[in-house]
Amino acid sequence: MDQYVIKGGNPLVGEVEIGGAKNAALAIITAAIMTDETVTLENIPDVSDINALLGAISFIGAVVERVDRHTVRINGSTISGSSVDYDLIKKIRASYYLLGALIGKYKKAEVPLPGGCTIGSRPIDQHLKGLEAMGVDIKIEHGDIIAEASELRGAHIFLDMASVGATINIMMAATMARGKTIIENAAREPHVVDAANFLNSMGANIKGAGTEVIRIRGVQKLHKTTYSIVPDMIEAGTYMVAAAATGGDVTVTNVIPKHLEAISAKLKEIGCTVEEFDDAVRVASDGRRLKRTQVKTLPYPGFPTDMQPQIAALLTRSLGTSIITENIFDSRFKYVDELVRMGASIKVKGDSAIITGCEKLTGARVEAPDLRAGAALVIAALSAEGVSVVEDIVYIQRGYEDFDLKLKRLGADITGVDSTRFFRKKNEVQIS
Ligand code: EPZ
Repeated sequence: MDQYVIKGGNPLVGEVEIGGAKNAALAIITAAIMTDETVTLENIPDVSDINALLGAISFIGAVVERVDRHTVRINGSTISGSSVDYDLIKKIRASYYLLGALIGKYKKAEVPLPGGCTIGSRPIDQHLKGLEAMGVDIKIEHGDIIAEASELRGAHIFLDMASVGATINIMMAATMARGKTIIENAAREPHVVDAANFLNSMGANIKGAGTEVIRIRGVQKLHKTTYSIVPDMIEAGTYMVAAAATGGDVTVTNVIPKHLEAISAKLKEIGCTVEEFDDAVRVASDGRRLKRTQVKTLPYPGFPTDMQPQIAALLTRSLGTSIITENIFDSRFKYVDELVRMGASIKVKGDSAIITGCEKLTGARVEAPDLRAGAALVIAALSAEGVSVVEDIVYIQRGYEDFDLKLKRLGADITGVDSTRFFRKKNEVQIS
């Protein structure tokens, strides 16, 4: 299956259960190898990024046992060597977390420098700066980061920006360094907190996760644990925005409403009804055009950059002109040209997209340029008149489990197809 065929116009109605957070699970799966005992992880999302990282840690010798679709057991005692193959990091950027985990445990690591990606240049200079401050000698040779520390010691590190990856990578190495590490200007995302809670459940001593100052006292050893991954705020936000875009009424369950506050507030501001329960949030809109707004992406608790394409798809049909400013990544508007093919009126100027709301979108063939942009194009197709084909859905499958099935259960007319067997007449969809 490499495409979704979507017939727009159905309001999404009902309940959808949210899975574990991909970006928390990527960090936690890597941290799990820091002990020689067995770690059981529950509520793991069954998405290709996760399965690629599980492949990467088993490639370096960890034992990975899939207990069921959402539960894995990991034992890092059989890891032989601390070098990671380039093909693995090409498959999953987050393999760079192996840097912090392997250095913390073995005081050395060899990890390929991750390349760029479609949403912008993704340097890891802050990760390396923090590790060097802890006494790690870092060399970049033939595309690899070669890192070694004769003695890994705590340090006082001030990040230039609240980087999620750098915060987590440094936190992992500091967990087993000698002495105390302070990370200033730390990222506060829920998945940073989840990674800290997980490490503490293995015997680490981390305080302050979720604030901009994290304090870590190094420990000698980490032990076994069983841990359940935090719900995925971006998966939840994606369904909330899809409900709004289709004039529907959807309750996302198994969520932490506090993590969704920036998204809920924005949806309320443009005219949706949003109700919060203990572990659920309900979003409804009556199908009338929603109001215009301004969105600025910011580190948590600001509006998440990973929800930027989705809210843009929603605002294409708002009343008036909206402005979205992307403050985190330097080229996260690649999806705009695809939305324009569906009739949207969007102009990208520098780090902002100016969206003039239109009456309707019409179905078209579009290509998903990346994970969240792909989800945004599905949202646009669900709210468009007529049939759309979203291609390259392999990107979407990196971070959304059963995306088409969950949408179908909410009433969407969406079918996953294999493009080699599919052809399309004007406004008719036939599968050969
Ligand atoms: C994580 O990426 C997420 N990925 C991203 O989600 C998310 O968009 C991002 O955090 C921001 O929330 C994972 O967790 C696997 P950053 P990360 O370091 O850690 C610059 C998705 O769709 N920077 O917080 O790479 C960087 O270029 C993905 O699920 C440096 O300059 O993000 C960016 O402009 C996409 N030097 C900004 O900081 C560094 O050393 C924020 O990046 C590190 C980052």
